[in-house]
Amino acid sequence: MAHTAAKRIVVGVSGGIAAYKACHVVRGFTELGHEVQVIPTENALRFVGKATFEALSHNPVFTSVYEEVDQVRHVQVGQRADLVVIAPATADLLARLAQGRANDMLTSTVLMTGAPVVIAPAMHTEMWNNPATQANVALLRDRGMTVLEPAHGRLTGSDTGPGRLLDPEQIVDLALLVLSTGMLPRTLAGKRVLVSAGGTREAIDPVRFIGNHSSGRQGFAIAEVAAHMGAAVTVVAGATDRLPTPAGATVIAVDSANDMQQVIADEFAKQNIIIMAAAVADVRPKIAAATKLKKGSGTADLQQIDLCENPDILRGLVKRRATGSQPIIVGFAAETGDTAATALEHGRAKLARKGCDWLLVNDVSQDQVFGKPTNAGWLLSAGGEVLELPRDSKFVIARQLLEAVAQQA
Ligand code: CTP
Repeated sequence: MAHTAAKRIVVGVSGGIAAYKACHVVRGFTELGHEVQVIPTENALRFVGKATFEALSHNPVFTSVYEEVDQVRHVQVGQRADLVVIAPATADLLARLAQGRANDMLTSTVLMTGAPVVIAPAMHTEMWNNPATQANVALLRDRGMTVLEPAHGRLTGSDTGPGRLLDPEQIVDLALLVLSTGMLPRTLAGKRVLVSAGGTREAIDPVRFIGNHSSGRQGFAIAEVAAHMGAAVTVVAGATDRLPTPAGATVIAVDSANDMQQVIADEFAKQNIIIMAAAVADVRPKIAAATKLKKGSGTADLQQIDLCENPDILRGLVKRRATGSQPIIVGFAAETGDTAATALEHGRAKLARKGCDWLLVNDVSQDQVFGKPTNAGWLLSAGGEVLELPRDSKFVIARQLLEAVAQQA
């Protein structure tokens, strides 16, 4: 990632059961070399002991403005911070922040700071959906704080729904995105975004397949950032690394290019934006053997697999859409320069060939893309715009792409 210099990060923790996950958030930041100051509320310490936070952050922990008063910590910590991250934020903490209260060390620090504030809420679905909480969230966003969407899923009891704390690695990634690029805008609110991600697997027989190196990281980063920009997100996922589900997203797992094409065709009409970040295999075995092929078994010979071309999903989507209407269609291109043309020139030719509205061209010359946390390249529009994307985290690249596309959606 491109967060080179160590930053001073305040991790605020409020009193909910998800407080135990804050330990991993603290760890995530310290492992990247950042200096962390944990500020729990009194109630957070009912769930996780002070000693745990002190050991993980390598810093003393204070909850009250009345400890070591001569140090004026509630002023100092907020002033010195580069970033404030609150995880988990309970409904009560959101209410106190919205009111501008300063009745403990954490709320005082938030009032004092000029640093970006990123809030990861966690509470029961009813509390999250309550108009009082939603009004507090809207107010905090209006004031420039990034209130992340909660994850959907199993809550403390047997209930499920929106309100789960995001995974610690999602909180760390998104907080660092906000640190380097500012508050996330809600410009995708009310929009539906479909992202394909990962590589397709084309069956040779029940145990073997043709696949590729795609990790799905760029597609999942786009889905994640889109969700926190307010979109309703669907991810059509081929084979990927183990990645957390983007907040509130519907993830549909697929195997082959044909499966992926079918699922996207079913979803097409509902979407405002479709982003084809998947690495779709260009070919597949003509016949997927029903039983495992054996070495040297004559007819079903593993050394001679006949291939046929897969459908070009992206071109099919462009053909299906009437000119100038929704959805906006974004393609990806993994290119290397060669004797015929540079990577950018190959990208321009591909944009014209595919006919999509935008093309994100990844420069894959230096083995810096597959499975890596960073990416680089250019974003090209059908109208001829070229936005250079210097090497940065896949989340920063995702944001640049989504902000450009959101202007048209
Ligand atoms: N794509 C697709 N269906 C395919 C192959 C690719 O929808 N069968 C999409 C990818 O998701 C990506 C874009 O097309 O958004 C570019 O894929 P790429 O494989 O780089 O393009 P190709 O047309 O296969 O060109 P090349 O000759 O460079 O392989």
